Amino acid sequence: MKLPYLAAAASALAVSTTASAISAEEVYLDAVKDVGHLRRALPNAPDDYTPTHVQCPASRPSVRSAASLSPNETAWLEIRRNNTVEPMRTLLSRLNITGFDAGAYIDRVSNNASALPNIGIAVSGGGWRALMNGAGAIKAFDSRTDNNTGTGHLGGLLQSATYLSGLSGGGWLVGSLMMNNWTTVGALQADDAGSVWEFGNSVFKGPDTGGVQLFDTAEYYSHLVSDVDGKDDAGFDISLTDVWGRALSFQLINATDGGSSYLWSSIAQSKGFQNGDYPFPILVADGRAPDEVLISGNTTVFEFNAFEMGTWDPTSYGFAPVRYLGSNFTAGEVPDNDTCVVGFDNAGFIMGTSSSLFNQFLLNLNGTDISDTLKKLLGHLLSDLGEANDDIADYTPNPFFQYSPETDPGANSTRLTLVDGGEDGQNIPLHPLIQPNRHVDVIFAVDSSADTNYSWPNATALVATYERSLSDIANNTAFPSIPDQNTIVNLGLNTRPTFFGCNSSNFTEGSTIPPLVVYIPNSPYVTLSNESTFTFSTNNSYRDAIILNGLHVASMANGTVDETWPTCVGCAILSRSLERTGTDIPDVCTSCFNRFCWNGTLDSSTPKTYEPTPILETADAKGHASSKSVGLWTAIAAAAVTVTLVL
Ligand SMILES: *[C@@H]1O[C@H](CO)[C@@H](O)[C@H](O)[C@H]1NC(C)=O
Ligand SMILES: *[C@@H]1O[C@H](CO)[C@@H](O)[C@H](O)[C@H]1NC(C)=O
Ligand SMILES: *[C@@H]1O[C@H](CO)[C@@H](O)[C@H](O)[C@H]1NC(C)=O
Ligand SMILES: *[C@@H]1O[C@H](CO)[C@@H](O)[C@H](O)[C@H]1NC(C)=O
Ligand SMILES: *[C@@H]1O[C@H](CO)[C@@H](O)[C@H](O)[C@H]1NC(C)=O
Ligand SMILES: *[C@@H]1O[C@H](CO)[C@@H](O)[C@H](O)[C@H]1NC(C)=O
Ligand SMILES: *[C@@H]1O[C@H](CO)[C@@H](O)[C@H](O)[C@H]1NC(C)=O
Ligand SMILES: *[C@@H]1O[C@H](CO)[C@@H](O)[C@H](O)[C@H]1NC(C)=O
Ligand SMILES: *[C@@H]1O[C@H](CO)[C@@H](O)[C@H](O)[C@H]1NC(C)=O
Ligand SMILES: *[C@@H]1O[C@H](CO)[C@@H](O)[C@H](O)[C@H]1NC(C)=O
Ligand SMILES: *[C@@H]1O[C@H](CO)[C@@H](O)[C@H](O)[C@H]1NC(C)=O
Ligand SMILES: *[C@@H]1O[C@H](CO)[C@@H](O)[C@H](O)[C@H]1NC(C)=O
Repeated sequence: MKLPYLAAAASALAVSTTASAISAEEVYLDAVKDVGHLRRALPNAPDDYTPTHVQCPASRPSVRSAASLSPNETAWLEIRRNNTVEPMRTLLSRLNITGFDAGAYIDRVSNNASALPNIGIAVSGGGWRALMNGAGAIKAFDSRTDNNTGTGHLGGLLQSATYLSGLSGGGWLVGSLMMNNWTTVGALQADDAGSVWEFGNSVFKGPDTGGVQLFDTAEYYSHLVSDVDGKDDAGFDISLTDVWGRALSFQLINATDGGSSYLWSSIAQSKGFQNGDYPFPILVADGRAPDEVLISGNTTVFEFNAFEMGTWDPTSYGFAPVRYLGSNFTAGEVPDNDTCVVGFDNAGFIMGTSSSLFNQFLLNLNGTDISDTLKKLLGHLLSDLGEANDDIADYTPNPFFQYSPETDPGANSTRLTLVDGGEDGQNIPLHPLIQPNRHVDVIFAVDSSADTNYSWPNATALVATYERSLSDIANNTAFPSIPDQNTIVNLGLNTRPTFFGCNSSNFTEGSTIPPLVVYIPNSPYVTLSNESTFTFSTNNSYRDAIILNGLHVASMANGTVDETWPTCVGCAILSRSLERTGTDIPDVCTSCFNRFCWNGTLDSSTPKTYEPTPILETADAKGHASSKSVGLWTAIAAAAVTVTLVL
């Protein structure tokens, strides 16, 4: 039991001082100016983790309708999409699309954003497994990875992409790249003085002095608690997600204090983003009404992008500037006599929100191999939090308060509560990428979900998004049809990449044509990369093996497992664009579509247990991942209880 220990941590927090009365907008702007030359996500919060009241800027922040893209995104896209032309030209020219002059084609459409292929990448949830498997895919797509621009390699796809969405564990990956100046996966995993991804140090134990962090476990907890304490003292509602987000930041942000000053909105202030050097980041979370435990398929899906937070769904149907979250919006405006709030959008809090799956943990507790005593204890702690509605991420004041009173069931609530973006079953963050306003042509959907008995994906996430696209909440989004999971497993569609939605003539005339979905399911190449979602510590050799495995999954071992794959990736990128411009589909692409598209075949008989084994020589025996440190959930839950009770 860690409680006495936490009590010590809690009393330590009483000593710590917080919240000197910083209040001026200028302070915030000065901070931005000071570190602006660093060209990276900025530690620019005015008062560390504590949100701060400032005078509203002359043009007061407001909520806007989701009818169109934001002017900020529209302006940014012009820059980014131009920057994708050259990488796309290089990549497609290299991918050996026989009988097709990819260079000439891209040159021809480069002036015309509506003809040019528009690429999105989506990285699913699934805890650290999803972060690592997703990181492998990103590494496979990154031209900065060593030797990644030769025959058979997919380096350059990341540089060609417009959007990069992440959810839960996948959101940690996206956030970690964004908060660390768009560094490479290789640099984040490097075992050197600047190492960041030290997942051998459980999130419940805190950093080891081996990495960039300086604290021991005691100091770690006292930091977590005192940061959250500061926010509470300043009058903001706190929840377990605050502690969780602070803890995650120590693993994801390269800063000795766990990056308490890094704001999500600082992405838009960093030079690399402004120059359109990398894709547009989006994290996803679900709305969860108080008292709700199971999340329905038609819950509101919220996104946090570089500029805004909000939803395209016909409920709140609006977006608020992410930088001014915490401000008291009423009917979309901050009242004239009120101040604005900045510093609420702590990057760790946003990443924690997208991965706030405490109620899922409670629901899954019986399935874990932890001891009965501990199970009981955790069950109690988590249900207490649940009853107090503290197992959510609290976005009070609700930015959409009275904004859409006719359509938003939460419009009259001053509280907005969010949970893990995968809790509605849509564990791949496709929602932002199927919005007609964004005109995405192809989504590389990296799925690390734990659907089957042995934690492999079976496309349940795609099924969820497909089913949602048929209901009223879809609001003009469309999605390719997806077969049942038995079919997926029986046809082996979860053992290799599969395309869905190849034939756009299947979509009715005049309706939205959804993106082509390139489904990339986690499967074993060089290691059993099916580590449990509730594994809290992964040593570096297993971490590296999962990342390498993910690289092989996405590239089919750089085209060595299927030599047509690199070409077929090129065809997937081009497919919608070729149709729009009335260009003949090269024969080699027709072969690709015959090979990789789901052709409508169904086999819904119950498959036998899915237990794949690595198809290549193993990189590393199954690592020593353990879920022993799950006991420390007690600690974090207790920390939150302490915070709630003591403060
Ligand atoms: C951020 O990355 C860019 C591009 O690689 C580099 O020029 C710049 O020096 C980096 N900034 C920091 C603070 O590391
Ligand atoms: C978004 O655009 C508005 C209007 O041009 C501008 O005032 C604001 O600074 C932009 N926001 C960001 C984060 O770039
Ligand atoms: C993007 O490229 C087009 C065509 O080359 C050009 O007209 C436009 O000015 C560019 N936009 C930006 C923001 O660089
Ligand atoms: C390119 O594709 C053709 C088939 O279209 C194949 O014969 C050839 O070997 C491939 N070249 C490379 C370098 O992979
Ligand atoms: C990259 O390629 C070069 C030359 O073929 C080789 O010497 C080097 O070991 C390769 N590096 C990696 C990381 O594979
Ligand atoms: C982390 O920060 C340290 C110190 O600023 C730097 O040396 C190192 O390169 C950074 N690591 C990454 C992956 O950015
Ligand atoms: C969608 O929401 C409505 C009411 O909000 C509910 O009655 C319905 O059962 C939900 N449908 C699904 C598929 O969850
Ligand atoms: C938020 O604004 C509403 C409407 O003006 C007001 O009634 C309420 O007191 C404000 N709350 C805070 C915390 O400022
Ligand atoms: C602003 O004015 C409204 C209406 O008069 C009042 O209800 C509210 O409390 C005021 N808010 C602040 C922060 O003074
Ligand atoms: C877990 O198991 C316990 C004891 O068998 C049972 O009382 C409890 O309802 C179960 N919880 C869930 C969420 O299934
Ligand atoms: C919210 O309150 C307003 C005014 O009382 C009412 O007209 C509206 O129907 C309510 N909306 C919801 C979703 O309850
Ligand atoms: C697919 O995953 C879902 C969700 O975990 C599960 O209920 C179902 O049994 C699985 N089906 C197959 C065939 O693996």
